[in-house]
Amino acid sequence: MLILTNKSDMLGVLEAFPEQCKEAIKLARKVKIKGKIANIVVCGMGGSGIGGDLLRPFVKKIPVFVNKNYKIPDFVNRNSLVFVVSYSGDTEETLAAYLEAKKKRAVVIAITSGGKLAEKEKNAIIVPKGYQPRAAIGFLFLPVLKILANSRIIPNQDSAIREAIRGLVPKICSKEGFMLAKKLKDKIPVFYGSEELAGVAYRMKTQVNENAKQPAFWHVFPEMDHNEINGFKRGGKKLQLVFIRDKRDLQKIRKRMAITKKLIKDSTNVTDLHVRGNSLLARMLITIYIGDYASYYLALMNKVNPGIVKIIEELKKRLK
Ligand code: PA5
Repeated sequence: MLILTNKSDMLGVLEAFPEQCKEAIKLARKVKIKGKIANIVVCGMGGSGIGGDLLRPFVKKIPVFVNKNYKIPDFVNRNSLVFVVSYSGDTEETLAAYLEAKKKRAVVIAITSGGKLAEKEKNAIIVPKGYQPRAAIGFLFLPVLKILANSRIIPNQDSAIREAIRGLVPKICSKEGFMLAKKLKDKIPVFYGSEELAGVAYRMKTQVNENAKQPAFWHVFPEMDHNEINGFKRGGKKLQLVFIRDKRDLQKIRKRMAITKKLIKDSTNVTDLHVRGNSLLARMLITIYIGDYASYYLALMNKVNPGIVKIIEELKKRLK
């Protein structure tokens, strides 16, 4: 019999996620960008960089580049808005990107809990300490969204935020996460979403890697229909595919998901995760919440601590 015990405060942090989202919005209530912005760059790695992936579909009028590297693109100049996000404030790729953005005189907004980034950027948005970076996704992502809405670069998100918070019900999402975790146990999860929800699919994959210490992968529709669909005949049974199905996706994407499922169902395992909510933000955050719970329960099933990522820390130490 499986005995579930909380091995870290990850569960407490998950249960308090709706409050985290409320607090996160307050951090950016008064921050507004003036002047012409031609493009947006979000620099950040891992749990701090995911906000960039989530942001992309919100911004329709100017390009968004998600920068997970030491260098920033050549196009960055004083008309670029560069978010530099590092929970610890000490991630070397992000610090290098920060220095480059400053050199290019971009408009820079740093979000961090401290470290070197807070020392260098006196106007940084400071988020509370003590979280695992990936568990602070509300603090790291929502201020970005709020600042862009304050600056009228994206539409106002207030009602979307309220809808999302109403939908983040720990009891319900935890149960759904647990059911999903049972399907992912002893399998290699592969998450698929539409391009719009690519950030959600990627988040679900990285949470399984970091919290449950299990291999996991991701891809998007329609691209997967041009390659991966052909690759399940050998070894496909070891996988558990999760199709993130959203009734707001393009009809063509929904049709593809349904046909793809029929075509591959004998070679692999496919389960559907149905997205709820009206606004893009609510659809994203509620699905992520279920995925976060799934990765937490999967960690317990795997008898590992979801709240530590020893190998990532060891790597960072060796790079110093
Ligand atoms: O969730 C994690 O612990 C990692 O993915 C980190 O976010 C990543 O290593 C980057 O570190 P930081 O968020 O401190 O910049």
